[in-house]
Parts: sequence; structure tokens; C-alpha cells
Amino acid sequence: MNIEDEIKRRKTFGIIAHPDAGKTTLTEKLLLFGGAIQVAGAVKSNKIKKHTTSDFMEIERQRGISVATSVMAFEYEGYKVNILDTPGHEDFAEDTYRTLTAVDSAIMVIDCVKGVEPQTRKLLEVCRMRNTPVIVFINKMDREGRDAFDLLDEIEKELKIKVRPLSWPIGIGKSFKGVYNLYEKKLNLFRGENKQIVEDTIEVRNLKDGSLENFISGDFADKLREEVEIIESVYPEFSANDYQQGSICPVFFGSAVNNFGVKELLDCFVRISPFPRSRETDQNDVSPFDKKFSGFVFKIHANLDPKHRDRIAFLRICSGKFERNKYYHHVRDKKELRFSNPTAFMAQDKSVIDEAYPGDIVGLYDAGNFKIGDTMTEGAELNFKGIPSFSPELFRFVVNTDPMKSKQLQKGLEQLTDEGVAQLFTRKVDGRKILGTVGALQFEVIQFRLKGEYNASCNFESYNMHKACWIDCDDKKKLEDFIEDKANYIAYDKEERPVFMAESAWLLQMTQEKNPDIQFYFKSEF
Ligand code: G4P
Repeated sequence: MNIEDEIKRRKTFGIIAHPDAGKTTLTEKLLLFGGAIQVAGAVKSNKIKKHTTSDFMEIERQRGISVATSVMAFEYEGYKVNILDTPGHEDFAEDTYRTLTAVDSAIMVIDCVKGVEPQTRKLLEVCRMRNTPVIVFINKMDREGRDAFDLLDEIEKELKIKVRPLSWPIGIGKSFKGVYNLYEKKLNLFRGENKQIVEDTIEVRNLKDGSLENFISGDFADKLREEVEIIESVYPEFSANDYQQGSICPVFFGSAVNNFGVKELLDCFVRISPFPRSRETDQNDVSPFDKKFSGFVFKIHANLDPKHRDRIAFLRICSGKFERNKYYHHVRDKKELRFSNPTAFMAQDKSVIDEAYPGDIVGLYDAGNFKIGDTMTEGAELNFKGIPSFSPELFRFVVNTDPMKSKQLQKGLEQLTDEGVAQLFTRKVDGRKILGTVGALQFEVIQFRLKGEYNASCNFESYNMHKACWIDCDDKKKLEDFIEDKANYIAYDKEERPVFMAESAWLLQMTQEKNPDIQFYFKSEF
């Protein structure tokens, strides 16, 4: 197969959801269809449950699982499907945001009982930043959930997106009969006999000709006809192009745990979802069809076992062909590196690969060369954009509790923050180090890893801040004046970029109003 065909058959995506909506269950069912696993239960949830917050063995165990399931690839009907796993625990949300920079599309799972939840909202915002195409899967239709139209309205309103149902539920909860596939004009019946749920697919091209009553009772048939008519008149005709531009989200209904509606989702997904697209760099856009290899690191996974200090950098290939043992250019370090054991991930197995194509993710064993966001090329001096840091939500001062180990602490903080565990800031007025994270769990992970891997100890002192905003101004003098004026609230990130630490949303708003020339950003790339 030539390289162009290889690229066009790649579907690299992430499944995103608020915890408990059914992401792990759906992933597993997709892997079963793809033949990547043979039995249900093979994919463990990578959720770190709330009550295990302080249980480091649990963190370690979970990390072990998550490296195995970070990327799950399988072949399906001629397509190469790459699922990028995202952490379930909301404290690791930043990991999820970064993983989303490496996908070409996403499937968002929503629980039909709970509707839109806080994490759903945040994740969709991240997708919107890059116009990532999103398919919505409304899950748990076997439960007494909300009315389908109400759910769609809520999704449109809360997430500020346009939706287009491609399947439609018949009944819900105890009276859930199945779904009508609007895309293929097929009826899928849901039967829950003796807990053995069988899926039947029946072609019903014409809903009006009475054949529907052979399969579902009159009331349900009438309601379905009525609702399909409403859908056809209220929602625009489905356009794969609009979906690929990120301007409309197709919606499917089903029940992941019952494996119901999952095959329809997968069949449609492989057909309509985009193959790798061009990506923005600080030079020209890079097309996946460019002959020369390029890619970027979006995730680094360290081994917590001090006897095996290796790390795995996850590289998303953006153009050309990646080959084992070939020298590539590490743009930031200006170094040539080659990899003798690049790995691909097939469900739970890792295997050494000889080549990989745009859309694929390869795991590179790393002795500390990589930072998140690093670009590798076949010589070109360019850097991929769109792998920003997001404003953390929790901040703490780092207090060194072992002054004899200051160097180790510094090194540990540098390396752990390169891996993206947290963000490191330095306060302008006194040079104090501040760690910023999305969740409280990271502070424990850092303390634990500093001790175990760097033999350094630290404590944290609270620093109650609302947000860190990267600041800029066209007039550099004005920016300098602002920094001097607000010195107590200024810190610098690791790249020496100035950041305004806002104590509260109110203070941030006031400061923005009083300083209209200064731009405030919630992410490091603007
Ligand atoms: P997550 O990764 O998004 O956090 O969710 P996960 O798949 O772990 O699913 C969360 C819970 O929801 C699980 O139950 C799972 O079995 C259940 N679930 C998933 N899909 C459906 C569905 O279609 N219908 C119903 N009724 N439940 C569903 P649990 O009790 O937390 O775990 P388990 O003991 O069942 O594994």
C-alpha cells in the first residue's frame, strides 16, 4: 500500500466523557469489534477512585495500566483505528487536554440520566479550540433517562454546539425498544431477555408503510414516526463536511454495557471521521502527505520504579514515514536522535515497529531528552503549535524541607514539570517557586516522586489564586509598566513568559477593565 493510502485509512481519535458516563465500557466494546481483545473485562478502568487519593500504590498501579492502554490500535474494515485513551480522573484533566492535541476527532460519551456534566463542558471547549470534529454518543439508554429532545437541547445550549441525530431512541429505560438508524434507515431492536441482550437489525426504508408495526407496538411506532418527522424538519440535513469542519456534531444513542448501538457508531465513525489533516507550525502548515517525516511529543510517561528510570515519550506522527533506527532532528535541542525500539500499542501489547505513518502514535524510550510539545523532523526547523499549557486551577508554594538537597529538588521539579505533571512558575518579587495543577492529586504525586526518584523532600504552602493568565501587549513598554505596577501578582513560567496571578475572578475582571491594552490568556499559546 502506498503512503497516501496508509494515511487515508487512519482514524486517530479520543473518547472523552465526564467520569462514569461509560468511556471505559465503550472503549472496550470498540476493541471487541476490532478484534483487539477477545473478552469483555480486559480493559481496566483507569479511574483513580476518590477514596484512593492518598494511596500511592493505587496511583502506581493505575499508571501501569494507563501506559498499556494509552493508545489502542486495531484494524476494522480496512481502516487502522487508533484510540487515544484519556485519564478518567478529573485531577488529570490537563493530560486529557494535551492528548486531544494529538487526535483528529473525538467521541464524546454523555450519560442520558445526567446529561451535560462539568467535565463534558471543559472537554468540549478544548475540542472547540482546534475545531476537532466530535461525535456524541448518548449512553445508558437502558436507564430511565431524560427525553431525547430535551437532551439534545441541553447539549446545544450548554455546550454551544449544533447537533444532528443520526440515530433515534424508541422508548427509554424499562421500555427501551431500540434505536432507529436515521443514517442507514434501519431499525435496531433491543431485547433484554434473561439478561441476554440480542441486537437485531432490520431494514425499514419507509417508516410510513406500516411494516414498522411488525416489530414495535403501535404507540411506539406512531411516536417514532412523529419524532422522525420533527427531526427532519428541525435539524439540518446531515453533512459529513460540516462535521469534519467541527461545526456540527452527529449524535448516536445506545447502551455501551449492553453493546447496543456501538457497532452503528463504529461503522459510521470510520466512514465519516477525518483522516489526519494538516497541522499548524511556527513555519508553514505541514500536510500529512509531505514526504518528510515530522511529529510531536504530547505525553511523557515515567516509570515509577526507581530501578527502571526509563520514560516513554508518545510521539504523534504528522507527516512522512517514521522509520526505526533512522536519525531524526530534535528541533529544540538541535540534536540528532535515533530510536532502536520504537513501540506501537495494540490494546494491551506493546511491540517494536519498523515504520509508522501520519496519525499513528509511537512510544519512544527516552532518557530525558523530551519535553511535552517537542517537535521531531527530518531536518526542518519547525515547531508544531497547538500544544499549549492551560491555566492551572490550584497553586501552592514549594517549600524545600531538606536544604542539602536543593539541587535534586530543582532537577526533580524541572523534569516532572517537563513531563507535564504540573506547571512551574517563579514569583517575580521573591523568586519563590509555585506549582500549578488542575487537581489536588498531582501535589501528592509530585511529593511522592520527588522522594522516590530524586531523593528530595518538599512541603507545600497554600497560595490561594484563582487563575494564572499569560499576558501580552503590542506595546512592550506598556507590558513592562504593567508588570512593574502589578509586581506582587506577576510570576514567570518555565519559558520566562510573564503570567498574571489573579486572586479572584472579580480581581481579574477589574484588572482587565482597567488595562484594556493588555491581553490576558488562559493558555500559554496565543
Ligand atoms: P468511565 O470510564 O466513563 O468512568 O465509565 P465506565 O465505563 O467505567 O462506566 C461507569 C459505570 O457505568 C459502570 O458501572 C458501567 O458498567 C456503567 N455503564 C456503562 N455503560 C452503561 C450502560 O449502557 N447502561 C448502564 N446501565 N450502565 C452502564 P460501575 O457499577 O461503576 O462499574 P462495574 O462494576 O459495572 O464495572
